[in-house]
Amino acid sequence: MTLSPPLGLLAEITHRCPLQCPYCSNPLELVARSGELPTETWLDIIDQAAALGILQIHFSGGEPMARSDLAQLIARADQCGLYANLITSGVQLTPETLAPLVAAGLPHVQLSFQDIETAAADTMSGYRGSLEKKLAAARHVTAAGLSLTANFVIQRENCARVPEMIQLGLALGVHRIEIAHVQYHGWSMVNRSRLLPSREQLDAVTAAVEQARAAHAGRLVIDYVIPDYYADYPKACMAGWGRRFINVSPAGNVLPCHAAETITAAPIPNITTASLAEIWNESALFNLYRGTGWMAEPCRSCERRELDWGGCRCQALALTGDAAATDPVCSRSVDRPKIDAALAEAASGDADLVYRRYGGAPSLSAVIARSGATKQSRARDGSGLLRSARNDDKK
Ligand code: SF4
Ligand code: FES
Repeated sequence: MTLSPPLGLLAEITHRCPLQCPYCSNPLELVARSGELPTETWLDIIDQAAALGILQIHFSGGEPMARSDLAQLIARADQCGLYANLITSGVQLTPETLAPLVAAGLPHVQLSFQDIETAAADTMSGYRGSLEKKLAAARHVTAAGLSLTANFVIQRENCARVPEMIQLGLALGVHRIEIAHVQYHGWSMVNRSRLLPSREQLDAVTAAVEQARAAHAGRLVIDYVIPDYYADYPKACMAGWGRRFINVSPAGNVLPCHAAETITAAPIPNITTASLAEIWNESALFNLYRGTGWMAEPCRSCERRELDWGGCRCQALALTGDAAATDPVCSRSVDRPKIDAALAEAASGDADLVYRRYGGAPSLSAVIARSGATKQSRARDGSGLLRSARNDDKK
């Protein structure tokens, strides 16, 4: 099989973050500041990415603005011809912090919103005053002439405000909006029964998106991501394992997706011991679920196998204990009843939110006690939630 170069690099330059979102996509085991790759290594990764044919680099985290060398990294990306996107919470974005990034050649910012009402945004971000700062950040970005994407993260408590979110995006002058339901991997598994919307709520959000798409066609692009628990077939996670994207963790682990450290069937490659090209082309991890040759039935003979690539490997592992299983979201999976049971459980879920705190997380035992969904994987690998819940969806 001839391998195409990856399209994009997700550079997770730090796990440090001032927010405490209960649906955080980062691993349970966060990399401490002292464990982050130094500037020189990130500059080398950017050079290697360009040489490999990568076109886009997404600076993410945690909060990438927590790193003082961000402008240096953006400048190198610009020199290498990579299109840079800053994925940020915006709470540290001021004219003063933005200016060096603009000077370094940053063309695009993706700004996340937990909600558009002050109290609700405070509650979901675990950060007082977050909405006000994000609105100011959006204005600074557009005033600086950068492209801005507003990303609204949807869960049951803000579904009704989607039409107003779209209006806010228009008022802020964005050309692209993401209405993205929480994906239930990683930390969000702990809060799944509290966050999952009902089918009726989902249908109302879908209708609002379709209406807005029709009303603003030609001047606004709305990307829409549903919680795949309600789908008949899974999403093509990462556009297929090892097909389009490379993630590099703050500690230099090179991964097909940012949850792939949960996969134990192959060693995790690290940029300090192999090049990006070697890892992309030859590593056991990237080749583990590439293409369709690894699939068992029902995926192996399914007509959709090159559409969704069997779904999400990390979701399959977290919910079935087997990363090579058909994604249980699929209606053809023998494990689909696990998804249906989660939906039924969520219908009555009203537990308190468990926040994600950098450097101050609740104890693992407290988290495990909250997460019935993790029991199977704990039993399987003996390492507890560290393995079962370290899965997906960026802020
Ligand atoms: Fe996708 Fe496999 Fe389900 Fe077919 S059987 S739709 S390939 S997950
Ligand atoms: Fe890892 Fe989907 S394949 S998050």
